[in-house]
Parts: sequence; structure tokens; C-alpha cells
Amino acid sequence: MKVLVTGGAGFIGSHIVDLLVQSGCRVSVVDDLSTGRFENINPRVNFYKIDIRDQYLEEALAREKPEAVIHLAAQADVQRSLKDPRADAEINILGAINLLNACVGCGVGKVVYASTAARYGNPSRLPLDESHPAQPQSPYGVSKYTVEHYLRVYRELYGIDYTALRYANVYGPRQDASGEGGVVAIFIDRLLKGESPHIFGDGEQTRDFIYVKDVAAANMASLRRGGGGAFNVSTGAGLTVNHLFRELKKITGTPLEPVYRPPRPGDITHSYLSNEITCASLGWRPRYSLGEGLRETVEFYKKSQVV
Ligand SMILES: NC(=O)c1ccc[n+]([C@@H]2O[C@H](COP(=O)([O-])OP(=O)(O)OC[C@H]3O[C@@H](n4cnc5c(N)ncnc54)[C@H](O)[C@@H]3O)[C@@H](O)[C@H]2O)c1
Repeated sequence: MKVLVTGGAGFIGSHIVDLLVQSGCRVSVVDDLSTGRFENINPRVNFYKIDIRDQYLEEALAREKPEAVIHLAAQADVQRSLKDPRADAEINILGAINLLNACVGCGVGKVVYASTAARYGNPSRLPLDESHPAQPQSPYGVSKYTVEHYLRVYRELYGIDYTALRYANVYGPRQDASGEGGVVAIFIDRLLKGESPHIFGDGEQTRDFIYVKDVAAANMASLRRGGGGAFNVSTGAGLTVNHLFRELKKITGTPLEPVYRPPRPGDITHSYLSNEITCASLGWRPRYSLGEGLRETVEFYKKSQVV
């Protein structure tokens, strides 16, 4: 199968590309390298350094003629979206529309879209299931969710199939430790530097941490299943930040303890997402335990010279 991945130089996109290549797909990548890294790009792909808002995007699609597009390229920083909602919308909404128009022009059959749990906002019930009301609390949540509507409309108007995957908190190798969302990467980075990580609040807040290779597998499954649907990609279980720290303490063998700081305004206390519908619809389930995922991630950061 021929697949084009936008954002394939980024943290999650590069793992999806690796899995596609391993599975025998012919893969091309579009990325402007704004946050992605050239070193992340699998050497067996055709790479186009293009902004998804650019007119040349359609030329790349016309040349590659992919049967499916996996769309991850985005402004993925919640804080940046608060500071500059216009730039966030230009990349995440107008960029996606430019991509969808190119897909229509080039006869792409399916788009798999990286959506987010930020679509839900503050949970009114747990676990968050796909029919939970949409109450995004940041311009990022709004822009990412808006694209789900465009996907539905483009399917109705032009017959392009789609699957939207709403990722929980993704962690794993290649995540940027300076990124605001990557608590696992930030904790590991500090621990390996011999510094205590900061925990905001009492650490009893829960999050749903899903390993990046499980996310890649959900994308792979979506190439052939889940048409016209939006699905959580999650473990289905809430894990406290204190628990996460204790696991990392065990794996790294550090004597360090966390430093507790006042809670940050707007932080959600509990969040975890049901994956029942996803498992049934995509024939997918998360395969990595927390321990396995964290061990691989710690190994990666130990080997890389970044820390
Ligand atoms: N990391 C998470 O926990 C998480 C959770 C939910 C959803 N997501 C979504 O998953 C996707 C990937 O996120 P990530 O964590 O790998 O972030 P990332 O920043 O590593 O990846 C984004 C990639 O998109 C590229 N990009 C950004 N703007 C572009 C543009 N205008 N044109 C072309 N390329 C552009 C970047 O260079 C980068 O390679 C995003 O769509 C994000 O919204 C991530």
C-alpha cells in the first residue's frame, strides 16, 4: 500500500512511518521540520520538506499518488495555541483543509487523522468515551476537533473515507523533553540529569499514558478499518503522576524524590479514556505494559546524547 504521512519527522509520526515501512508499505513523508527532526525520518521514504499550508503540497501528492494519507502535521503545543490562537488555527485548520483539497484532487481513498483527547475538555464522566460532549479548553483543542468536522463533510461531499484517532497522553522514544505535554519525557530527562522532577499539585491527578508504538499500531489498523468514525487511542486506565514517578524511580534507580509545586490553574484532575469501541472497531488493543514502554523510553534517552 502507498501511504503519505504528514508530520512523519515528528515524535509520533516517525514511529508510524517506521511501522509502515516494516510492514512493506511504500511511504512518503511531508514535514516542514518546524518541530520534527531530520534524523527521525526513516531512510526508506521519499521526503518532502513542505509546509502543509503550501501550494506545493498538491504537487507532492500528485507525484506520490498515495492510496491513504496519515495526517499528523500540526501545531501541537497547547501553550503556544493560547499565546497565538491565529497561528494555531492557520496550521491546524487551514493546513488540514489544504491537505484535504489536495487529497480530493489526487484521488486519495482514506485519511487517518491524529485527533486528541483535548477535544473533551474537563470530563463530566469517566472514563471519557467517544460520545462525551466536546468542551475543548484551549484553541489547540478547538482547532484539532474542528478538523474532525471537515473530515466528515469531505467524506459526504467527495467520498474520501477517514478515521479520526483521539490520542490520550502519548509517550515514548523521540518525544521532546522540552514539550509541555510530555511529562514522561520531562521526568526522564530530569532524572537522568540528576535533577528532581516537579510535580504540580499532590501528584494524585490521573492521566492515560499510551505508548507510542501502540499508537502506531492503531494508525496501521485504521488504514483498513474504522471508516467514518472517531476513536480513542488509550489504555483505558488512569495512572497517577505519583505512580508514574515511582515506576521511573525504579527503572532509573535514582535516589531523587519529586519536588511538589502548587497546582497549575486549568489543570484537569482526572482524565482517562475508554478504548472499548476502538478495540472492537479496529481490532486493535494496546500491547505494551507501562513498565515495558517506560523501560524502552528510558533506554532511548540514556543512549541519545540529548540528556
Ligand atoms: N503527543 C501527544 O501526546 C499527542 C496527543 C494527542 C494528539 N497528538 C497529535 O499527534 C500529532 C503529532 O504530535 P507529536 O507529539 O508527534 O508532535 P511533533 O511536534 O513531534 O510532530 C508534529 C510534526 O508536524 C510537523 N509540522 C508542524 N507544522 C507543520 C506544517 N505547517 N507543515 C508541515 N509539517 C508541520 C513538525 O515538524 C513535526 O514533525 C499532532 O497532530 C498532535 O496534535 C499528540
